[in-house]
Amino acid sequence: MASSYANNSIFLLLCLCLTFSTSAYGGNFNTDFNILFGDKRANIQDGGNSMTLTMDEYSGSGIGTKNEYLFGKFDMQIKLVPGNSAGTVTTIYLSSQGPHHDEIDIEFLGNLSGDPYILSTNLYANGIGGHEVQFYLWFDPTQDFHTYSIDWNPQRIIILVDNIPIRVIHNRQDIGVAFPIMQAMKLYTTLWNGDTWATRGGKVKIDWSKAPFTAGFRNFNANACITGPSSKCLSFNGGKNKGLSSKIRKQLKVIHSKWVVYDYCRDFTRYARGLPHECRKTNNLVADF
Ligand SMILES: *[C@@H]1O[C@H](CO)[C@@H](O)[C@H](O)[C@H]1NC(C)=O
Repeated sequence: MASSYANNSIFLLLCLCLTFSTSAYGGNFNTDFNILFGDKRANIQDGGNSMTLTMDEYSGSGIGTKNEYLFGKFDMQIKLVPGNSAGTVTTIYLSSQGPHHDEIDIEFLGNLSGDPYILSTNLYANGIGGHEVQFYLWFDPTQDFHTYSIDWNPQRIIILVDNIPIRVIHNRQDIGVAFPIMQAMKLYTTLWNGDTWATRGGKVKIDWSKAPFTAGFRNFNANACITGPSSKCLSFNGGKNKGLSSKIRKQLKVIHSKWVVYDYCRDFTRYARGLPHECRKTNNLVADF
């Protein structure tokens, strides 16, 4: 076995699942996570299959996995804070520890009732961030649960919404661009106050008269390599991520032309002295926007 799993029961579950389909093992909020802040504001239900995070005037809330992973596909179904969610930030992200940390982010920036959420993605590699690409969604993310995924392997990271890739980040260590490949990460999900920056750049503050704010989470799924003394994660490919078919590349182009709000690779004000290496035309891979 190239990977080790959380415990035998999960491994057994994996085997059972594989009998019927190729889907990965499920995760559980009770057994796979610790509550990091907010105490009872992180409320796990349904035997660990679902959870709500709440924020009030005193605190937000958040949980993080017990295990550290090196590569894998992580899925979470989320139903975002409804109504006036301006200033709230709901997140699901992978992060390592330490000063030169790696991090892969999905953050949902709330908004006034009826105004669109922004799904913001970012990558830190070796402590360096600044790789934001932000999207509007083609549905109301507060009405229903939708699946948000991070599929990370040594070649690339794919971020998906309802299994549709919205962003691909290739490993371009070949041209000197840092990529998360050495440091194991935990998965976190949080709800917190971002009203100094999140909504219209921080202009719209949280309306505390609408508190508490609550987001729903369910069906966490990790088909991922858990790091440990005997695990060899470097060849792990839990998401079966082999790159993109031409059909999916076309889909990705449509998403990028219709739904991108901000792309650091097109920010000529921020990068007036020249775009980052990986953004330059000569270095741009076909599927890398
Ligand atoms: C909030 O709504 C405004 C107006 O439609 C929009 O400009 C903005 O991008 C939306 N999202 C956030 C997070 O500010």
